[in-house]
Amino acid sequence: MTTKNTWALSFYQKQFEWLDSNLEDKMKDDIERQVDGVKEQIGRPFETMLEIGAGWGILARGLSKRGVKMTTLELVPELVAFAKSRSPKTIEIHQGDFYTYELQEQFDVVGYFDGFGIGTDEDQLFLLERIASWMKEDGCALIDIYQPTHWQRAAGQEMKFERACRRYEFDEANSRMLDTWWPIDKPAEAVTQSLRCYTIVEITDLCKLAGLQITGIFPGGMMDYNDWVYHSLASLSDCLAYRIKVKKA
Ligand SMILES: C[S@@+](CC[C@H](N)C(=O)[O-])C[C@H]1O[C@@H](n2cnc3c(N)ncnc32)[C@H](O)[C@@H]1O
Repeated sequence: MTTKNTWALSFYQKQFEWLDSNLEDKMKDDIERQVDGVKEQIGRPFETMLEIGAGWGILARGLSKRGVKMTTLELVPELVAFAKSRSPKTIEIHQGDFYTYELQEQFDVVGYFDGFGIGTDEDQLFLLERIASWMKEDGCALIDIYQPTHWQRAAGQEMKFERACRRYEFDEANSRMLDTWWPIDKPAEAVTQSLRCYTIVEITDLCKLAGLQITGIFPGGMMDYNDWVYHSLASLSDCLAYRIKVKKA
């Protein structure tokens, strides 16, 4: 499996091009809250962490500032260059495809925050197996899982940023959220990400097949599309995504 034939590279390249690169400065308090959340969810002291699909490297920098020895793996070269330009040398930053990239080390914690569900169920199973292989025997992983009922309700919602527009759809037959972005006034240049959403039962079964056991489930936030307010904590049936904590079974 490689991502060569999927939408992932071009989608995340375009998203980076169209988003405000000062986002990190605007998110300072939120990043601190996210770091607190990760530490609390892990629930014990840990030294090393691998973050895959690390994007701009924002959370990795936050965790590194709090003394965690961070390693990141990210597909998009432009995002990796951006992360390198902002990160201390103590963060080991790798550019590559998480389906194929070889990492020699094992980690206390592996994280995949926002983005799980790119391929087929078989692809996701393969990735879970790789995550298990990167975990130390007593290690754990935290993975954000898109929650189907939120995305069913979000279908049809549109929003506008400074340089781009965005629209959500939901593919009921395959339980996938579809997230389309296009530059303002240029709908022909649209790119779409399609992420498989899993119920807790479905993800529990997939984890079992990968030799992983879920030991914690943490609901994330939700968007209320009636008044366009984001609530940072929501129920498991309302949240955009929930985070699972897994260990080797
Ligand atoms: C939704 S973004 C989340 C970024 C970051 N974790 C965050 O929470 O802001 C998903 C990220 O995963 C990366 N990604 C997608 N497929 C990948 C792959 N096969 N290997 C490595 N990274 C990948 C994307 O380029 C993108 O930066």
